[in-house]
Amino acid sequence: MQELVIASNNEGKIKEIRALISGIKLLSLRDIGFDKEIPEPFHTFEENAYTKAIAIRKFCGKNVFADDSGICVNALGGRPGVDSAHYSGTRDDEKNLQKVLDELKAKTDRSAYYKALICLVWEDEAYYFEGICKGRIAEQKAGAGGFGYDPVFIPEGYEQTFGELALDIKNTLSHRGKAIKKMVEFLKDKNTSSPLERPGEVVL
Ligand code: IMP
Repeated sequence: MQELVIASNNEGKIKEIRALISGIKLLSLRDIGFDKEIPEPFHTFEENAYTKAIAIRKFCGKNVFADDSGICVNALGGRPGVDSAHYSGTRDDEKNLQKVLDELKAKTDRSAYYKALICLVWEDEAYYFEGICKGRIAEQKAGAGGFGYDPVFIPEGYEQTFGELALDIKNTLSHRGKAIKKMVEFLKDKNTSSPLERPGEVVL
């Protein structure tokens, strides 16, 4: 079976990605013996995703993809955006989402969107897949599911936050789910083999 490395240490992302992909052997950074933080020094999702993917490609020589993602709040001029993981100055999800809630107190427009940008490095070529999920920021936290800003993000067409909605629902709506599905379609054409059949997931 073909192998593909997920260039992320974010357990929330990895759980979602594993539920969306089968028919290919997904390797974690631990599986390949990589135990460092990968720097994300840039101001665009594209550059950060590429930097993460290429660092791991150089480390292990395997096919690899990285997801760079974040939440963009319209009334905050698109912030936190690429700085979502450390918006409060720390990597603390609770402090980060609290900062967004505080900054929105005086605003009426609570619209926001999640964006995921995947960079796949497959046999020395880089390919990009984007996913957007529109919604709004709740007045207060609700639900314990998901990760990051999920307890305050209500996707369009719903009244519950991603923290309240089940993972399979989040994966059908989310920025990451959409980007991963595009990558899976692309990989199907690369003729990966041994599809596993599990209901509700995308099979390579
Ligand atoms: P990075 O891609 O590692 O720079 O970090 C992405 C950050 O964006 C996460 O740490 C979260 O704060 C936020 N984020 C991205 N996707 C999601 C999501 O699906 N749910 C909640 N927060 C997210």
